[in-house]
Amino acid sequence: MSTPLDTLMELRAEARLGGGTERIEKLHAKGRMTARERIDTLLDPGSFEEFDMFKTHRCHSFGMEKKVFPGDGVVTGYGTVSGRLVYVYAQDPTILGGSLSETIAEKICKIMDLAVKNGAPIIGLNDSGGARIQEGIESLAGYSDIFLRNVMASGVVPQISAIFGPCAGGAVYSPALTDFIAMVKNNSYMFLTGPKVVKSVTHEDVTVEELGGADMHSSRSGVSDYAAESGLDCVEYVKKLLSFLPQNNVENPPMIPTQDPAERRAEELNAIIPESASEPYDMKEVILASIDNRDFFEIKKDFAPNLIIGFARYDGKAVGIVGNQPLHLSGVLDIDSSIKGARFVRFCDCFNIPVVTFVDVPGFLPGTVQEYGGVIRNGAKMLYAYAEATVPKITVITRKAYGGAYCVMSSKHLRGDINYAWPGAEIAVMGAKGAVGVLYGREAQKQEDPAKFLADKEAEYQEAVANPYVAARRGYVDDIIEPARTRFRIVKALGMLQNKRDSNPMKKHGNIPL
Ligand code: HXC
Repeated sequence: MSTPLDTLMELRAEARLGGGTERIEKLHAKGRMTARERIDTLLDPGSFEEFDMFKTHRCHSFGMEKKVFPGDGVVTGYGTVSGRLVYVYAQDPTILGGSLSETIAEKICKIMDLAVKNGAPIIGLNDSGGARIQEGIESLAGYSDIFLRNVMASGVVPQISAIFGPCAGGAVYSPALTDFIAMVKNNSYMFLTGPKVVKSVTHEDVTVEELGGADMHSSRSGVSDYAAESGLDCVEYVKKLLSFLPQNNVENPPMIPTQDPAERRAEELNAIIPESASEPYDMKEVILASIDNRDFFEIKKDFAPNLIIGFARYDGKAVGIVGNQPLHLSGVLDIDSSIKGARFVRFCDCFNIPVVTFVDVPGFLPGTVQEYGGVIRNGAKMLYAYAEATVPKITVITRKAYGGAYCVMSSKHLRGDINYAWPGAEIAVMGAKGAVGVLYGREAQKQEDPAKFLADKEAEYQEAVANPYVAARRGYVDDIIEPARTRFRIVKALGMLQNKRDSNPMKKHGNIPL
């Protein structure tokens, strides 16, 4: 006769099998992990405490009374990553496609509430066909309960989503409300509806990969922050991301002591700017040369590569880095890069992460594509984000800071705390060629040698305006620094700003141009 303890063990074993051995094998055959394996690879060994293992759905329609699985289609609980508390849920694709029932929503909401009360990140490991069709409104209500909690938790605790399988409907809207999304290449998809529904509504023939694959979302839509090579790679990305983040909005990010000396010079930076202003160089090299151990954790690498964003450390302190990338579109700001930068700056500001901005920007990208797409509204997002941010803001202008883009990129006027420029920086309304064309174009035509006339005027403009000293004389840049000493100057500035207090006027919330 079995004892109560035997019964417990049997029920646990049954719950651990999810949708059954056959479905688990199918998943493994596709190179995918089960929900529990995903949790195990994420958390410190032995740290997982599970909740609601015996909870089952309450649906009796469409034969659902015969499809009851203990725990239903999600595994929830808490554990630690590198010793730090996190709350986690993992949808189980072996149970009714990981689709979301009323009871699954209750399980997820339980850990979200605990995460907010206890001030720790929420990590969702997603693999779900969306609202459980058999349940109808109960399932929609469940999603709405999760969405509400996503929004309430936003800016209070970090929320990270990893996408491991095909996700549709509500299963993509909840991740969309979180701070970061990582997807697994060739295995994970995000779309509102799958290709079959697309075909019936718009008559488009499209594959899952084209419609919502990791590569598409990480390079084209910008929905995803990272396209992982495998499930394991995806989990490693989440772990490393967490290492830069505080547990919640009233804590500071963890300090990681470094052997990389704060005073280390980076001689290569004294020679990195090409002679010609139209020649590109790699801003990532500037970033790598100045941060601790060249360890840069880039976000949205393949989306809007004309702007670089990511996390790094200076003398152990975590910062968010934003940098124009002259290698792509000469580093201009456009719609996508503005959205990318603004969201990142706002994240850093939510979570007490100082922002270091490297500027080499010829302006905003002109043209009908940008204007029709709303570059005015979207570019304003960057202005808004930098202006409202109260975390320490350090700016280094390496070369061009022209026009509106000068104002946008963490300028003194938007409460930049420390603004440095390299000696060859050009801070002006526009580049010499463009400016002279506007100012002297007509007059040049009247000259004997228009080309020489314009070249002389260009040199005059360069000398008088396009240098860092005009801004330095006004105090708009605090100092002109030797490029090789950029690391040390940033480390010193961060130290000086570590107790910075600044605030915005009391209000319900601002109205960022969305
Ligand atoms: C119930 C579902 C389901 C769902 C999948 N399943 N999605 N069951 N509700 N939403 C079940 C399937 O019936 C199947 O069960 C098993 O899960 C695996 O599904 P497959 O289709 O065989 O898997 P795959 O080929 O990998 O395709 C995955 C998929 C596809 C692309 C996600 O299943 C799909 O298109 N599902 C429907 C997506 C959808 O439209 N969801 C509703 C969104 S509305 P068996 O027993 O046969 O193995 C929504 C509203 C929220 O979410 C509000 C948002 C604002």
